[in-house]
Amino acid sequence: MGRAARLAAMSHLPHLVDRDRVHSWHPYTQMLTQPPPLPVVKARGVYLYTDDGRKILDGISSWWVNLHGHSHPKLNAALAVQASELEHVVFAGCTHPPAVDLAERLVEVLPAGLTRVFYSDNGSTAVEVALKMAWQYWRNMGQRERRTFITLDRAYHGDTVGAMSVSEASSFTDPFKPLLFPVTRTHEPYCYRCPVGLERSTCQVECLDKLESLLRERGPAVAAVLVEPMLQGVGGMIVWPSEFLAGVRRLCDTYGTLMIADEVFTGFGRTGRMFACEHASVTPDIICLSKGITAGYLPLGASVATEAIYEAFLSEDRQKTFFHGHSYAANPLACAVGLASLDLFREQDVLARIGRLEQQLREGLEPLRALPIVGDVRVLGGVGAVELVPDSAAKAGDGYFDEVGPRLAAAFLEQNLLIRPLGRIVYFMPPYVITDDEVTWALDTIATVLRTV
Ligand SMILES: Cc1ncc(COP(=O)(O)O)c(C=O)c1O
Repeated sequence: MGRAARLAAMSHLPHLVDRDRVHSWHPYTQMLTQPPPLPVVKARGVYLYTDDGRKILDGISSWWVNLHGHSHPKLNAALAVQASELEHVVFAGCTHPPAVDLAERLVEVLPAGLTRVFYSDNGSTAVEVALKMAWQYWRNMGQRERRTFITLDRAYHGDTVGAMSVSEASSFTDPFKPLLFPVTRTHEPYCYRCPVGLERSTCQVECLDKLESLLRERGPAVAAVLVEPMLQGVGGMIVWPSEFLAGVRRLCDTYGTLMIADEVFTGFGRTGRMFACEHASVTPDIICLSKGITAGYLPLGASVATEAIYEAFLSEDRQKTFFHGHSYAANPLACAVGLASLDLFREQDVLARIGRLEQQLREGLEPLRALPIVGDVRVLGGVGAVELVPDSAAKAGDGYFDEVGPRLAAAFLEQNLLIRPLGRIVYFMPPYVITDDEVTWALDTIATVLRTV
């Protein structure tokens, strides 16, 4: 019996994992060799429950989206109420209360000056929208020569073609190389592996110098500088000095180009402030939001621009219209949950809770530096990361495909902790509602597993 026939014959089997194998194709998954997926049938708070009775702590907030815990009563109620009123309507030519309310509330909490909310439906589309908006902004302004984007080494901005183009060239993007448009790349402030060979304790953030020289040389050709402010996620949980972020804004102003902040991951409290840009008190020209915007319930993206950008699209000339849209843009269910999530931030002092979590992560992870396989420990807000190196003195390679990642993931899972290392970067990023005791348990578990590697 061939593979397809064998799999089809299994489709009558009752077990979810077996049925999954017949027709599902999972993201970032080598379907031939990867272990079977977790059969999750229920989730509450920080826990996932499987159909075979396991209770697993969600240590990655379900791919960095969940904020207030799974199946939160208040978010559930907001979703149910909205579903009984209006589940969806086209957002070109129509509007509805959840979209308008959420836009107003976002503008209230975003860095001052970001006032125009363009909805899409995920993180990659929020980035695509920002790129196209910046590009067409200059075109509408009569500066068609501004055609390149400056992005950072180790950047990750999503998996659609434009978002891949502005991401680090890596194993993720390699098969698609001929499809991608060229961009200009500059240093990232990766202090542990300093791109200019300095030490953070004595440097003056010289990693910014390359951006300055690129802008000096090519400034009039640059449409925008795109960054993941304060914390580059997929690139390795790289925590920035806030001076770098302030420097990016300053240089964009000096050389007259736009700054785009991709806060798809960092937004909504993940770095300890509502938005990472607040760490350096900067307002980008466009900010990209997704993931936590609906607290992990439903897909929604937003690219929020300044009034100056918006005004460049207002014209009697219809060619100046922003021709972009997605079927599910501003989906009312997603917007309603997003609003309820912002209510929770207000009612429950969520940012104070993240501050305590940050403290616990520091205290729990710092001692791991003493382990010979630990090269660096990085903590910001609700994210703690440990960079493993086979020989910490040598700061040896940091490959995504290192075998240690899957081995560790399996070891954590055996202890009922869901963690997906990025190669040799082990990170913990729970929903904010995690209790102090649960954090202690998770950090002890991480330490125990790392000691056995
Ligand atoms: C900074 C950043 N931008 C964009 C994306 C893409 O978001 P999505 O997976 O919703 O397309 C991600 C996803 O991890 C991200 O971390």
